Amino acid sequence: MSIEIPEGLTELLQSFTVEVLRNQPRDLLEFALHYFTQLRERESKEAALGNDQNSANRPGKAVNFAEEAMQIDSENGEDDEDDDEEFVAPVINRFIRRASVCAEAFNPDDEEEDKEPRITHPKSDEQRRRLQEACRDILLFKNLDPEQMSQVLDAMFEKLVEAGEHIIDQDDDGDNFYVIERGTFDILLKVDGVQHSVGSYDNRGSFGELALMYNTPRAATIVALSPGALWCLDRLTFRRIIVKNNAKKRKLYEAFIETLPLLTSLEPSERMKVVDVLSSKAYHDGEQIIAQGDLANCFYIVESGQVRITMKRSKKDQENGGVEIALCTRGQYFGELALVTNKPRAASAYAVGDVKCLVMDIKAFERLLGPCMDIMKRNIADYEQQLVALFGSNADGEDEDA
Ligand code: CMP
Repeated sequence: MSIEIPEGLTELLQSFTVEVLRNQPRDLLEFALHYFTQLRERESKEAALGNDQNSANRPGKAVNFAEEAMQIDSENGEDDEDDDEEFVAPVINRFIRRASVCAEAFNPDDEEEDKEPRITHPKSDEQRRRLQEACRDILLFKNLDPEQMSQVLDAMFEKLVEAGEHIIDQDDDGDNFYVIERGTFDILLKVDGVQHSVGSYDNRGSFGELALMYNTPRAATIVALSPGALWCLDRLTFRRIIVKNNAKKRKLYEAFIETLPLLTSLEPSERMKVVDVLSSKAYHDGEQIIAQGDLANCFYIVESGQVRITMKRSKKDQENGGVEIALCTRGQYFGELALVTNKPRAASAYAVGDVKCLVMDIKAFERLLGPCMDIMKRNIADYEQQLVALFGSNADGEDEDA
């Protein structure tokens, strides 16, 4: 008995197999469903356009895994429909996880990275306004030049999430970096196989940078505690712009960071991770950097200039603009007390002349500066002595004798 092989079957299966090998999907069945659905949709579209000659003989040709709304421009700006057909999107979509990313090395001098196609998700004016607002305080974006920033904003896409949704699972490969527009999110860490909540994000901030920066598996699980909205930046654009920028930052700050007494208990590789999360911020003479009583979310190292730390304890202090309690110069840090004690800012900080500070956000501070805590706590004990000398009572306003 002879069995007839239907025309096109071999090509169809071959194309599908190539896509599977190329994308290494975790869920083969879901991948297959998506693949064949796209193939069918494409054929229907072509048929509707009267362009269906031999479509059955070219199975798989059209299927790449670019998300529908995504547009990819080649660098030279050509926008050729035929090119689009041949293009295999460099995007890792929701169910295609990379098989192994850890071996991928990043060479900041590799100009090839710049030749990768640019990813653009079109946005309405209203979406772009909301995106800009969400990204305003993201430290990883602070050192980008306007052109880089605009490419990042173009590439970002919106994701609405439900309460209970896992945005990231610990140990997975990294696909996107996330900026929070709204919603609360739990941070869970597995220790000895048991998951613990180690913190949360409350309607601001970002997460998911570590796996993309260091080519490591996801370091924590992030779960939505409420309905929310996120802006996502794909791995490729993140590496092409943010990681490349960080490589430059390392060169710039390596020597300075090595001289900081605070960071002596860190390994050299840990000090470089500190550089990766720092962003440089400039202040003009007299500008307030920290306000006493405010909630704290950043830590500062003086890069150049001087920073005056003042405290108001009594009405008289308030009238005088506060009592100077310290003057920080290059290499010194401030803003750690409220982060360590979880209290509002105990003092204000003002620029004296033009000042530049390296700024780190609270999550990176907690994650990276644990080993420096002994030095900080010693200095915090010194502050209390200083305050007793200045005011006759400690920072909490308790009397010396209390
Ligand atoms: P990434 O490892 O890519 O994915 C999980 C993210 O959780 C991680 O990046 C950080 O952005 C974020 N995160 C927040 N707190 C921690 C923490 N204590 N340890 C590790 N990751 C954390």
